Amino acid sequence: MNQVHGNKSHRERVTQATKTVQANQNERAAYRLRYHLMAPSGWMNDPNGLIYFNGQYHAFYQHYPYGETWGPMHWGHGISDDLIHWHHLPVALAPGEAYDRDGCFSGSAVDDQGTLTLIYTGHNVIDPEKDVIVQNQNIARSRDGIHFYKANANPVIHQQPAGMGQDFRDPKVWRENGVWFMVVGATKHDQGQVLLYESANLEEWTYRGVLAQNDGGNEGYMWECPDFFKLGDKYVLLASPQGVEPEGDRYLNHHQTVYMVGDYVNGQFIRSSFTELDYGHDFYAVQTLLDGKGRRIAIGWMDMWESPKPSQKHGWAGAMTLPRELVLTEEGKIAMKPIEELTLLRQQSTPIGPLHVKHVHPILSSGNLVELEAQFALVDSDASAFGIRFCCAADGSEETVLRFDLLKHTVTLDRSRSGEGPGGARTVSIKSAATIDVRLFIDRSSVEVFINDGETVITSRIYPQETSTGMTVFAEGGSIVMPTCTVHKLKSIWSE
Ligand code: FRU
Repeated sequence: MNQVHGNKSHRERVTQATKTVQANQNERAAYRLRYHLMAPSGWMNDPNGLIYFNGQYHAFYQHYPYGETWGPMHWGHGISDDLIHWHHLPVALAPGEAYDRDGCFSGSAVDDQGTLTLIYTGHNVIDPEKDVIVQNQNIARSRDGIHFYKANANPVIHQQPAGMGQDFRDPKVWRENGVWFMVVGATKHDQGQVLLYESANLEEWTYRGVLAQNDGGNEGYMWECPDFFKLGDKYVLLASPQGVEPEGDRYLNHHQTVYMVGDYVNGQFIRSSFTELDYGHDFYAVQTLLDGKGRRIAIGWMDMWESPKPSQKHGWAGAMTLPRELVLTEEGKIAMKPIEELTLLRQQSTPIGPLHVKHVHPILSSGNLVELEAQFALVDSDASAFGIRFCCAADGSEETVLRFDLLKHTVTLDRSRSGEGPGGARTVSIKSAATIDVRLFIDRSSVEVFINDGETVITSRIYPQETSTGMTVFAEGGSIVMPTCTVHKLKSIWSE
C-alpha cells in the first residue's frame, strides 16, 4: 500500500494511519502476544517517548501502519495506568514534512510544564543508491496527550557537529536543575559516540561535546538509542551499538544493547564497563522512564534487526518486552527485575513443589500464557545440569530448553527446536550460588527469563505451534531439589 501522502496535512496523515491500523487489527492472528504491548497491526520496532505523565504511562513506538515490514516510520502510541494493561491511542506522528520526509525516527518524551512534548529524529533519504541520508532533531507538542503538533521551529537541531558521520539520531531528553539535556547517537570515523546538548526551552540547543564514545575497541561504529541517568550513586549510559563483533558467546545478535556504569564529571562520562543488558536473541533499542514511585523502568524492542519474523505472514511484526525495573547491584552491575505489577496478570496459581527431580518431572500440559516461578536449591542437589523444557509438542517435535550447566556455571536458552523461526542458542555465565531462582514468562511467541531477581535476563522470540504447551523440569547426572515451584496462568490484556 502506498504511504506517500503528497500534500496532506499532518493531521490527515495521522488519521489515515490510525484508520489503517485499526482496520487491519486482528488479535487472533497467529503468534500474537496476549500480555505485551504491540501495535494493533503492521510493523513496530523501538520503544519511544516512554514517560509517566499526569499519573499515566505513555509508550510510543516506531511504527509502520501500512504493512508488516519496516517502512517510513510513524510513532504508534499506547497508554496505561499500571504498565500492564495497555490501550491503543491514535498514531501520534506521521512523517512527511520537509525535515522528516522519510521517517519520524526514535526519540523521547518530556513533560514541559504540563505539555507532553516529543523529541524525535527527522529522517531524510537524499540518495538511496549511495545511502546518503540527513538526520535532524525535532519536537512535537500535545495539549491533550493524544494529538501532536510539530513545532514551527523544527528542526531544532539541523545537523550534527562538523566532521561527524551522517548518522545522528535517537534523542533522549531529561531535565536537571532547570536545564534540558539531550543525549543523541552519533558516529565519527566509524566509532560510535553519544553527544550531549543542553537547552533552556527545547527549541534552541547548544552542543556540549562528546559524552561517551567507542575508544577504539570492539564497541561499534554507531551508538543508537542512548539513554543516560543516575542509578544509585552511579551514572548509567545505555546504548544500542551497531557493529560490535562476536566474541565467543558474547555479542551474537545482529546488534546488541549494552550498559555502561560510571561517573559523570564536567559533562564527561567516565565509565568502567560495556556489558550486554540482556542475553537473549531479541532485545534491542531499550529506553527507560522514571516513574512516580522513583523507579527506573526499562522496556526494549523484543525482536532483532535482520532476524526472520514468522508473524509477518500474519500481518504484524514486533513487540515490546515486559517492563523491568533497573537496579544497580553491589558489584556495580545492572539487574533487570520484572516490575511488581506483573503479578496483576496472574489468573490462577498452582503450587507444584517442593519437588525432588531425578530425571524428568512434568509441570504443565496446556496454556501458553504462563509464568513459572521456580527455585532450585543447589546445596541439596547432586545434578550436574538441570533445567526446564517448555513449549513442548506432545509428539516431541518441538521444545525450547533452558539448561543450567553446573560444571561450566552457565545457562543456555536453546531455541533450535522451538518451531518456526531462526533457532540458535544463547549461553551466559552465572555466578555460583546456593540457590537459583527463575521466573519464566511465556507469551505465545516470546520467552523472558529472569534469573536470581534479574541478575541475568534472557529474552527471545520463539514460534511454536499453538498446541506446543508442555513443560517439564529435568535433572542430569543426579537430582535437583526444588523447594518451591509455582505455575501461574496469566490473563490476556487484549480483547479478542
Ligand atoms: C534502532 C533504530 C534507531 C532508529 C530507528 C528507526 O532500532 O535503527 O536508530 O531511530 O530504529 O526505525
